[in-house]
Amino acid sequence: MPHRRTTFSKFIIEDSRRTGAGGAELAALLNDVQTACKFIAVAVARGAMNEAIAATATNVHGETQKPLDVISNEIMLRTCEYGGQLCGMVSEEMEEPYRLPQGQPRGRYLLVFDPLDGSSNIDVNMTVGTIFSVLLAPPGVADPTAGDFLQPGTAQVAAGYALYGPVSMLVITLGNGVHGFTLDREIGAYMLTHPDMRIPPQTREFAINASNERFWEPPVRRYVEECIAGKTGPRGADFNMRWIASMVAEVHRIMIRGGLFMYPRDTRDTSKPGRLRLLYEANPMAMLVEQAGGAASTARQRMLEVMPTTIHQRVPVVLGSSEEVERLVRYHEAYDRGESLVFDSPLFNTRSLFRVT
Ligand code: AHG
Ligand code: MN
Ligand code: MN
Repeated sequence: MPHRRTTFSKFIIEDSRRTGAGGAELAALLNDVQTACKFIAVAVARGAMNEAIAATATNVHGETQKPLDVISNEIMLRTCEYGGQLCGMVSEEMEEPYRLPQGQPRGRYLLVFDPLDGSSNIDVNMTVGTIFSVLLAPPGVADPTAGDFLQPGTAQVAAGYALYGPVSMLVITLGNGVHGFTLDREIGAYMLTHPDMRIPPQTREFAINASNERFWEPPVRRYVEECIAGKTGPRGADFNMRWIASMVAEVHRIMIRGGLFMYPRDTRDTSKPGRLRLLYEANPMAMLVEQAGGAASTARQRMLEVMPTTIHQRVPVVLGSSEEVERLVRYHEAYDRGESLVFDSPLFNTRSLFRVT
């Protein structure tokens, strides 16, 4: 009985009623976000057939073509700006906060997003997504400036991602668990298929871009070496590794079956404390992961408590199954205390001294 299923629209209307005053506004905003995600899902699915995103820089008419992340950004702006629930947006694709057009009704919410995450995977037809987060504007602010967006992740009202893979999904939290919806293309609606998603506390799977190994800090090296050592190493268990280079896809895998995702601080460029962005990548994912029973950290601080200083700030990210996040945090604490630790190095097949100098 498909008509008895819960649509995303119905779910958010019912769920946002819990929040009392303003609930309907939030539901209306999230409804616009889901519409934007459907537009992006269609644009992504058309692939090379979509003239606007063909691989070359100009099309046969001599018009400049836009990469899909720019198109996705425009879809988010145009679909979410008119409803009257927002007063400003921040996007990965825009240097400055987006100002709503003059005369447009303003609301009390802020929307921050990464319109197309994992876009380096577009050409090879792999899973990409959209990440978003909703904040409240400071009281009385009608045209927010960058400073108004500098709120810790604990202030998020809602967060979610859309996944454009073999099936399109929308996964959301309004602070009361995490719920997944699958796009039914015949009906044109996201249907509740994954209520109350939970991340198991234990895992034997981790994700990291191993090509950066030479830049990792010692505690990250230690963690990965111990995993790779498998049954005969200090962990006494074999581990599996994955790297999709699309954070949305990695987080979704963790939502479904657990795991640890790391994009840690490294020494490549010390002016950049990580690769991922705090406001529209790390924080929304951290809220989702915590709401699903997992943990999210910079490896030195709970992610949701990081106080942002700029809207595009980067941050180290460790998230997923809580016991593994806690282990990696402990390794960082030990390293920062200056402890030398003995551990088995699978690389050299020896018992080696883990020096922290
Ligand atoms: P974006 O496509 O929005 O720039 O983000 C890509 C991010 C993230 O999705 C992924 O985890 C990471 O970059 C991959 O980075 P590497 O190419 O360094 O592995
Ligand atoms: Mn991204
Ligand atoms: Mn992006």
